[in-house]
Amino acid sequence: MITMFPKRAYRILVFAFLLHGIGLAPVFPSPQQTAPATSGKQKAQRNSGDAWWRHAVIYEIYPRSFQDSNGDGIGDLNGITSRLDYLRDLGIDSIWITPMYPSPLVDFGYDVSDYTAIDPLYGTIADFDRLVSEAKKRNIRVIMDFVPNHSSEQHPWFKESRSSRTNPKRDWYIWRDGKGPGEPRNNWQSWFGHSAWQFDPATNQYYYHHFYKEQPDLNWRNPEVRKAMYDAMRFWFKRGVAGFRIDAVSRLFEDPDLHDDPIVPGRNAYGDPNILHKYTDNLPEVHEVLREMRRVAEEFPGSRILISEADEPNISELTKMYGKNDEVQLPMDFQIADVNKLSAPDFRRLLDEVENNPAGGQPHYFFSNHDQPRQWDRYGDGEHNDQIAKLIAALLLTPRTTPLMYYGEEIGMRTTPPARKEDVQDPIGKIGWPEEKGRDGERTPMQWDNTKNSGFSSAQRTWLPLPPSAAEYNVESESRDPNSILSFYKKALALRRTEPALQHGSYVTVDRDNPFVLSFLRKNVGKGNSILVVLNMSAVPQTIKFDLASLGIKESSSKPLIAAPQLGPDATVLAHFTIPAFGVFIGAVH
Ligand code: GLC
Repeated sequence: MITMFPKRAYRILVFAFLLHGIGLAPVFPSPQQTAPATSGKQKAQRNSGDAWWRHAVIYEIYPRSFQDSNGDGIGDLNGITSRLDYLRDLGIDSIWITPMYPSPLVDFGYDVSDYTAIDPLYGTIADFDRLVSEAKKRNIRVIMDFVPNHSSEQHPWFKESRSSRTNPKRDWYIWRDGKGPGEPRNNWQSWFGHSAWQFDPATNQYYYHHFYKEQPDLNWRNPEVRKAMYDAMRFWFKRGVAGFRIDAVSRLFEDPDLHDDPIVPGRNAYGDPNILHKYTDNLPEVHEVLREMRRVAEEFPGSRILISEADEPNISELTKMYGKNDEVQLPMDFQIADVNKLSAPDFRRLLDEVENNPAGGQPHYFFSNHDQPRQWDRYGDGEHNDQIAKLIAALLLTPRTTPLMYYGEEIGMRTTPPARKEDVQDPIGKIGWPEEKGRDGERTPMQWDNTKNSGFSSAQRTWLPLPPSAAEYNVESESRDPNSILSFYKKALALRRTEPALQHGSYVTVDRDNPFVLSFLRKNVGKGNSILVVLNMSAVPQTIKFDLASLGIKESSSKPLIAAPQLGPDATVLAHFTIPAFGVFIGAVH
């Protein structure tokens, strides 16, 4: 039986645990920071607005697919370590590695069976420590994925929990009686299709799972769960990780009264009636947990960060994730990622909204990740794809943001979904085929060169196939071509580092009514030039008359720093500025 505490009593209990579990914890040294910091200095750094993560570029690595070092067709930690020089030369400051904890791999690592170990498939804890220390030598910080909403059904905690109704861990998960024989308590649906309740005959109750049935939800109203999870975070912080990307965090709590979710017209890809996840998503208690996690992060020196998977419905919900600078520093902005069409007005509006978020939080933009088709396939028009890849790169790397890249976007990797149901690896694709083909398409191995398996693995067969486009789009070929997508990324990443206006400048949109071209200024706050960014989101050339005098720009032309297609070195006249189809211009203005 689940014991529900009255809210007040429960808060007092949590508070007691916090004092015990968080407040008294010691401060640990930071193997990743460059200079030793005291907690006072750390606070000052946070408040000065100049913490490392404000200027960092973060790069997401799907470990199964980055580099295989032992020939089993699956990427691993030593593989990542062997590619650190590439990441340093590309201009990356931090890598986020999606889960490599022990896992039955039903959801490819997002079903964790031990939060404080490494799955042998990916290596050992010693390999992990070596990765962190080799990364540090190259000034690259390592961010882990943290999966708090659910564990694997194979986690010892769940095995205990399901063993009897009186087991001490019973209340670590969400168990409920059914409504009647064969009938779950309410209409809550799994994000991955069908009922979110799974019947367990051993104890004649249902458990709740927001994702697959093999991923039972942990009960975050239980203080012991919180303590165990915060201790798992500490375990990795002590090993020198720079922070966590927190998975599916808005799903931590469900309505204790189990109201049915509202049904709306239509059916989803799994054939279920559409519902609004009103009672299983974004409950206010989520923010209490984020504040607690932030306090755990702050036990450690070196400005450790929290990134949240914040697929929030609008900017105002997203803004709540910053709290009062006491929740996460970087909520991933799905609004920007999923505009899904090249629309200057849409991007302008969204960038402005985030820029002015009432919490004053740092924007965190991305376009692709391991859950959604790659940007090329969502923003390309089939004809100008390479040019559009550069345009999206500029859109990611030049506004005021901590950009998040997904491995392979820098070479224009394509989404390659499986052609046949029998080839599908991701269970979503198995349940939803053919409408929902799953996420294999965006998880294919990294394309390094033109050797066997594009240099990813020496295996006969890799866990997902390399697409035919790998012959043209790979690191080695693109490194030799100054006009490749990779060369464009390298230039843009280098410019971010060297131009003070891109590091610290404010963000001001200009030519605000233009329906086709997104233009903005990164206004230098100190001495030196500002940067003008002009992105033509249409398939025809556009001419603009810029008037930047009111923004303190005195000169009438701009010197190109990066342009695609390439321009000559001559300065461009601002009052009569022509930009080619899907063109990118990044120039200095005084
Ligand atoms: C997040 C992950 C996704 C995973 C899900 C369940 O959305 O990004 O890959 O399937 O959580 O853990």
